[in-house]
Amino acid sequence: MRKVLVTGGTGYIGSHTAIQLANAGFEVVILDNLSNSSKGVVARIEELSKRQVDFIEGDIRDHELLRNIFSQHTFDSVIHFAGLKAVGESEEQPLRYFDNNVSGSIVLFDEMIKAGVYKLIFSSSATVYGDPGYVCYSENTPLAPINVYGRTKLMVEDILRDLKKSQPKWQIALLRYFNPVGAHESGRIGENPFGVPNNLMPFISQVAIGRRSKLMVYGNDYATPDGTGLRDYIHVEDLAAGHVAALKTLGDVNPFITLNLGTGKPYSVLEMISAFERASGIKIPYEIVGRRAGDLSEYYANADLAKEILGWQAKLGIDRMCADTWCWQKSNPEGYGID
Ligand code: NAD
Ligand code: WQD
Repeated sequence: MRKVLVTGGTGYIGSHTAIQLANAGFEVVILDNLSNSSKGVVARIEELSKRQVDFIEGDIRDHELLRNIFSQHTFDSVIHFAGLKAVGESEEQPLRYFDNNVSGSIVLFDEMIKAGVYKLIFSSSATVYGDPGYVCYSENTPLAPINVYGRTKLMVEDILRDLKKSQPKWQIALLRYFNPVGAHESGRIGENPFGVPNNLMPFISQVAIGRRSKLMVYGNDYATPDGTGLRDYIHVEDLAAGHVAALKTLGDVNPFITLNLGTGKPYSVLEMISAFERASGIKIPYEIVGRRAGDLSEYYANADLAKEILGWQAKLGIDRMCADTWCWQKSNPEGYGID
């Protein structure tokens, strides 16, 4: 059975992907330092996949630990989710972000080479595109991130492009996610931000459950139909399926792939609030406030290449995104319970 090391596998996207990997017959080993996730996730991954999953608590920057892990397991591939992802925090703590996301990735890639593991999927982000002056981003959109977090993602992409040039046996997928939302349909796993959520969907759902009094809508004076920002929200289950498809596609025919994972259909903040109200039957109080620094008015994916290369496309729409988020939130009002 093919074994995959999933760094950051107890996190939001990693946990959903781990289940789909196990269901697709991969043996899953998770490495996570629990800086933004809970150990309890592992039991839920096992419960939902009905398969045993190995969990190692530790840091991707720990050379010795990685050497031990690679000596104890024979991996076919690595999916590298581990990273810090809060844009505002990255501006305040750039060294922490470069150390964790860039130095951490270098340690991981170095130990992969030493162990002879050359197949990798890397969690990149639409943030690498910055502000190109148009709203539909293809993979050829210029790479010019406008914040520290985005630069850490671009640096790791650059490292991987250089690694591939220096050692052609690498097989690498750079997957650029747009705005992941939603949860496993069981409501057993979902997004569980520690502290105040930075992102729209977890904030809305915490308002719905009563943990927060109202949502701040960051600006209604954008040049969009209702004045609020438009984004390409993608269901995390579709995203997870994209990883399984990428893992199966990587090989001699497709040794290096760079793909947008989005739906291609953007929604506004007000549309997301309405959809969530429909799904939950709960009114979401909100207040229009000023724009958030660094926000763009609108962007979404051209996701044609992922369809062509992977035969993958997002299937789940806005109603499922909201219904599944609400199912997770209402059955786990305090998340996994330790934040
Ligand atoms: P998450 O925070 O839920 O998951 C990341 C996991 O990595 C966490 O469990 C955290 O504890 C772990 N981690 C962080 N640093 C680590 C380290 N040094 N060693 C070991 N484990 C470490 O985030 P997520 O939303 O699941 O995102 C997964 C990946 O996808 C990240 O790399 C993120 O940058 C990227 N991404 C996320 C989004 C998004 O909006 N959620 C969008 C684009 C890209
Ligand atoms: C969506 C829309 C906000 C919160 C970020 C990262 C990006 C990627 C995904 C990792 C915007 C509005 C939000 C709130 C609001 N992550 N909003 N009130 O900023 O598109 O993308 O997450 O790679 O890199 O930048 O996502 O969910 O924060 O915002 O009005 O409390 O909701 O202004 O229009 P964003 P988001």
